[in-house]
Amino acid sequence: MRHRGVLVLAGLAGALALVVSLSVAAAGGAGKSPAKRSVAAAVKPPKVAGAAALKKKYGGQSITFVGDNAVGSSHKRDLLLVARFQKDTGIKVKLVPHPAASDAAYSQLARNFSSHSSSIDVMMLDVVWPGAFAPYLVNLKPALGKAAKKQAAGIVQNDTVNGKLIAMPWFGDFGILYYRTDLLKKYNISGPPKTWAALTSDAKKIQAGERKSNPNFYGFVYQGNAYEGLTCDSLEWLASSGGGTFISNGKVTINNSKAAAMLNLVRSWIGNITPRGVTSYQEEDARNAFDAGNAAFMRNWPYAYAASKGTPVDGKFNVTVLPHGAGAHSVGTVGGWQLGVSKYSKHVGAATALVAYLTSAGVEKFDAIYNSNVPTIPSVARDQAVVKTNPYLKPEIANVARVTRPSRDLKTKYNQGSQIIYQGINQIENGTDAKSVLPSIASRLKRLVG
Ligand code: GLC
Repeated sequence: MRHRGVLVLAGLAGALALVVSLSVAAAGGAGKSPAKRSVAAAVKPPKVAGAAALKKKYGGQSITFVGDNAVGSSHKRDLLLVARFQKDTGIKVKLVPHPAASDAAYSQLARNFSSHSSSIDVMMLDVVWPGAFAPYLVNLKPALGKAAKKQAAGIVQNDTVNGKLIAMPWFGDFGILYYRTDLLKKYNISGPPKTWAALTSDAKKIQAGERKSNPNFYGFVYQGNAYEGLTCDSLEWLASSGGGTFISNGKVTINNSKAAAMLNLVRSWIGNITPRGVTSYQEEDARNAFDAGNAAFMRNWPYAYAASKGTPVDGKFNVTVLPHGAGAHSVGTVGGWQLGVSKYSKHVGAATALVAYLTSAGVEKFDAIYNSNVPTIPSVARDQAVVKTNPYLKPEIANVARVTRPSRDLKTKYNQGSQIIYQGINQIENGTDAKSVLPSIASRLKRLVG
């Protein structure tokens, strides 16, 4: 069982790396005009394939889709896609955004599933949830097994539980560093920080200068709130500084001196190079500060790239891999979302048709261009228009080592385990020495791992 889990996750990370490296390999011969034409076409949702037959079979049925929150343009993207699907198929879709924090979205679904409610037909599923929610999800293999062959194999494996395809990959994610190119130049800094120590000192330098004209300016923003995003950010801090990945092969490893040193460096940032309030920041809080021109550096997911277009920092920032500690290397936490159909849905056929459409190559291309989300279909990631609009697909960024959250070790208890992690880390951010917090995180995690 454990052995299989290792393969699944290694496969997932490998597949994501493959998706992006394939896309880059094809980037070389890009001609300008076809790519431009195809960008214009891709900012509109594509037609639904086989719409007439779907209309005949399911037209008039109503389904509910729990989609994205107002993260960047994600909700707008969902509205456009749903409108197109409704128009083409006659299937009515009620779009309900899930709570912004992934763990809150998890709790909402868990309540829905445990009451066997038919009120949700299609839902977004975080990459760390398949193990926990598999019993409540329709096996999509008979209907979508063929389409799944076009998807990166590792992610399909992540979404396959006991031989059943309980979700279809929709888009991937990994953590990256956003930095202000104009400010690096202004303060004579030759490039983005390679180490956390360099990020700390560059942030200090830029902040001291910018504060003279902007009292709201800070060096660095990230996701510091006590929620799932902090588990993702802290996994990057630890894994990029020799501090491990919280749990490894069933052993709780979080209580180690390198993890403590890195987390105490983070503690020293709060209110100094970050706003004091970063301890309650989620993705959009960080992006709003960065996009308003109030931060030099930001850790975020690729969606923030498209979302920052048209803001005061448009044209003044770039992206790269996250920094690392001495003697270690950069990493990015694997994120991403899948789509599933509830076992309690009264309209499984119509719901599956929506999942088929949303996870099609045409929609993934639209999403990659409209919302700079990472495609999970390799042929989409190779598409010239996609490569051109998504600089994180460059090999030097895309080939960063990926780290996975411990969903394999914690299985149905993943959400509980992540909560122990992010609450403990948030306590450190709020001033408690990591050395006194890590032992209690470790012992609570040990109880869960068993
Ligand atoms: C992003 C990732 C998801 C992660 C969440 C944390 O949405 O795709 O995997 O759980 O951020 O905030």
